[in-house]
Amino acid sequence: MNFDLVIRNGTVATASDVFKADVGVRDGRIAALGEGLAAGREEIDAAELLVLPGGVDGHVHFDQPTGDESVMADDFLTGTRSAAFGGTTTVLPFACQEKGKTLRAAVDDYHRRAAGKPLIDYAFHLIVTDPTEQVLGQELPALIREGYTSFKIYMTYDALKLNDRQILEVLDIARSEGAMVMMHAENADCIAWLTEKLERAGQTAPFFHGVSRPRVAEREATHRAISLAELVDVPILIVHVSGADAVEQIRWAQGRGLRIYAETCPQYLFLTADDLDGEGFEGAKCICSPPPRDAANQKVIWDGLTGGAFQVFSSDHAPFRFDGPGGKKVHGEQAPFRCVPNGIPGVETRLPLLFSEGVMKGRMELTKFVELTAANPARMYGLHPRKGTIAVGADADIALWDPSRTVTITNGILHHNVDYTPYEGIEVTGWPVVTLSRGAVICRDGELLAEPGRGEFLPCGLPAPARPKGSPAPVLPF
Ligand code: URP
Ligand code: ZN
Ligand code: ZN
Ligand code: ZN
Repeated sequence: MNFDLVIRNGTVATASDVFKADVGVRDGRIAALGEGLAAGREEIDAAELLVLPGGVDGHVHFDQPTGDESVMADDFLTGTRSAAFGGTTTVLPFACQEKGKTLRAAVDDYHRRAAGKPLIDYAFHLIVTDPTEQVLGQELPALIREGYTSFKIYMTYDALKLNDRQILEVLDIARSEGAMVMMHAENADCIAWLTEKLERAGQTAPFFHGVSRPRVAEREATHRAISLAELVDVPILIVHVSGADAVEQIRWAQGRGLRIYAETCPQYLFLTADDLDGEGFEGAKCICSPPPRDAANQKVIWDGLTGGAFQVFSSDHAPFRFDGPGGKKVHGEQAPFRCVPNGIPGVETRLPLLFSEGVMKGRMELTKFVELTAANPARMYGLHPRKGTIAVGADADIALWDPSRTVTITNGILHHNVDYTPYEGIEVTGWPVVTLSRGAVICRDGELLAEPGRGEFLPCGLPAPARPKGSPAPVLPF
């Protein structure tokens, strides 16, 4: 039986194994793994290459309205284009509920935003900002059953945050319906109080964004999120963890046997508070929340990645231009940090940065890299085993990596619609040279070979990691 495509002689890696094999693709799926597979209509020689599952980026923001004059620079075309060139084949952007509106309205709105644009497959996380009786009693359970099986809630930002009582109500629905809850854990009142104090003292430059969101504000919210989840008996995933204090809370919870999962992002490995202290307004390029910390905290994040505290490594791609309408300077170059849009781009650089500094520098096994960047996010969000692995039956979403290629990251080589990268000038070794989505080559040596709209919407299954501890044993399928 012939294949549509055979990727020959590569070194295949999954979250558990690294082995030499040909990969046979038929009808967009992996149909065979083995030595000396029969001919394919197309063949790719991967003799010097690594054959990795395409990355699954479980945390990106595309075309998300911000509620003020700022505008995200990437939509579902430019965002997925950038992802694909960075070796990522599945993204999970957010569909954010506007307070006063329904969740259903958000889902419909984001499907319209995506229509005709994505180059790779995508699913949506919901963001629940207004947990009315209608949302809790009907909409959220219905949407979970339709395949929106993960959602984010915020403990900070006035337009988004829930109070503890609301968080409990939402967690209770997640428990009964089997959804995964992502938590943005920062203490809103601490941040508001510090921000006002800093403003009164005239300390409004980008650097003070970091001062206004100290590690203790993240630690307190992380502990509180864990406690609320324990009370309800439901797993949660703490997103974009930045430093030692939050990691300590997460380890403490995991050590007590709680199902507390955690995500971190490149900015907490590669940036520090000093990057917010650039010439003039430069520091605004690195304003994100939680903010980057220091070298000692970067080390704790690395240890958490290799040591098991973190399950997921995502980009938190939140794209705002530095210059130009709706960007970091939307309120002027003298604007206080409070008015600077939060977030940095990184969907394309996520994998090369971790591969180079992690795998190539010997900090991290290749299997661990695949686990953190593809297999685990697929599992956490109900897309496994269709996504995130190289196995017979899985979608042929594959990135071919040249581990010997050295690249200096500059914004000019990236494919997002942002006018800067916070990682300008960093040299990396190892680069994704071919990206395949459902068996189709969509990027090859810097060339885009895909049509907008070819990416499919993925309804998600109920994630196994979201099962509460106290639930009855699952019924086996045999
Ligand atoms: O600063 C950030 N991370 N902005 C994106 C929104 C979020 O909270 O993830
Ligand atoms: Zn304004
Ligand atoms: Zn967040
Ligand atoms: Zn985010």
